[in-house]
Order: sequence, then structure tokens, then C-alpha cells
Amino acid sequence: MREHRVCPWYLAYTFDNPLRNLVHQPEKLLLPYVKAGMRVLDIGCGMGYFSIGMAKLVGDSGHVTSVDLQQKMLEVLMKRAKRNGVANRISPILCKENSLEVNEKVDFVIAFWMVHEVPDQNALFIQLSSILNPGSKMLIAEPKMHVTEQGFKASIETAKKHGFSLVETPKVFLSQSAVLMLNK
Ligand SMILES: C[S@@+](CC[C@H](N)C(=O)[O-])C[C@H]1O[C@@H](n2cnc3c(N)ncnc32)[C@H](O)[C@@H]1O
Repeated sequence: MREHRVCPWYLAYTFDNPLRNLVHQPEKLLLPYVKAGMRVLDIGCGMGYFSIGMAKLVGDSGHVTSVDLQQKMLEVLMKRAKRNGVANRISPILCKENSLEVNEKVDFVIAFWMVHEVPDQNALFIQLSSILNPGSKMLIAEPKMHVTEQGFKASIETAKKHGFSLVETPKVFLSQSAVLMLNK
């Protein structure tokens, strides 16, 4: 069985700190996929590094749902969102290990450095296939430090089993990444 480990909130500061912007630029990375007015979802949002970037891209007419297992992550996310003036565009949701607890349809999903922490990836992609609007896209990025190329391919194959197609593989620092589309 695959080892399963969740990144504790205090370790998130090791990568989610002011230097991160040198290597991960949420608005630049997501600009091709996230447009004004979209409803988008950040799963395993952590302290909201990508949620805040997406909230800026979707604007006042859009919305971001940010889901995490750890209440502390969501608390830091909302503090940061207030500081950035985008708290009114973000809904935090405390989820369960194998249940995202999302009851709405969205136009885009990001799962950044989280899929390898989910114990049942089949259950994850089944849920995502019912949350995403058909024809919509999802970006997965996994840390090279924790996920082998083979492990990443296995996640993509799991996604394909549940109605996703591989669209492209953007370059993301220290990561293996894929953009998937939910088939119509
Ligand atoms: C390595 S952190 C990445 C956080 C954020 N995406 C980022 O890039 O800054 C992984 C996050 O996924 C969350 N997580 C782990 N397992 C999860 C699950 N089954 N469902 C939802 N979130 C989960 C953890 O609590 C943690 O906040």
C-alpha cells in the first residue's frame, strides 16, 4: 500500500513563504485557464497560495472554493485573503480525507502538491468528475521530491479511468504537472 502522509500546517511555511514567488507565480501559471467570472476550486489549498492568485484572476464576478483537511490552513488562508482584499471571493471548506465536501459545479480545479497525500485517488477523481463542468480543465502538480515519474503517471491513468483526458504538461518548478480535461 502507498505511504500516506499529510503535510502538517507548520511545515507549509518551508515552501509557502515570500521566496516562493520567485519560482511559482500563480497568476502567470493559471492565466491560460482561469478567466474573469469563473467558479474555480483549489483542493488541498493549504495556506491559499493559489487560491489568492485565482481570486485575483476571477475578479468580483467569479468565485474560489478552497478545500483543505486542516482547519489551521484555512485560517491562515482567510487571513491572507483579507490582507489581499479578496476574502469576499473565497469560500473555505474543511473536508474529510476521502470526501471533498463540495456541492457545486466549477469551471476549473487546481490540485497543487496534494494528490499524493490523498489515500484513495480513485475516490478523488470520481468526485472531481462530478464537480467539474464537462469540458472544463484541471491542473495537477506533484512535487518531484515525493512523487516518482511512475507514481505521477499512475495518477494520470487513474484520472483517465474516470473521464479525464491529458491536454498538456506545463512546466512547473520542482514539479511534474498535467492539465486534464473532463470529457464532454
Ligand atoms: C503540500 S500542501 C500544498 C498546499 C497548497 N496546495 C500549496 O501549493 O501551497 C498539501 C495540502 O493538501 C492538504 N491535504 C492532504 N490530504 C488532503 C485530502 N485528502 N483532502 C484535502 N486536502 C488534503 C494538506 O492539508 C495540505 O494543506
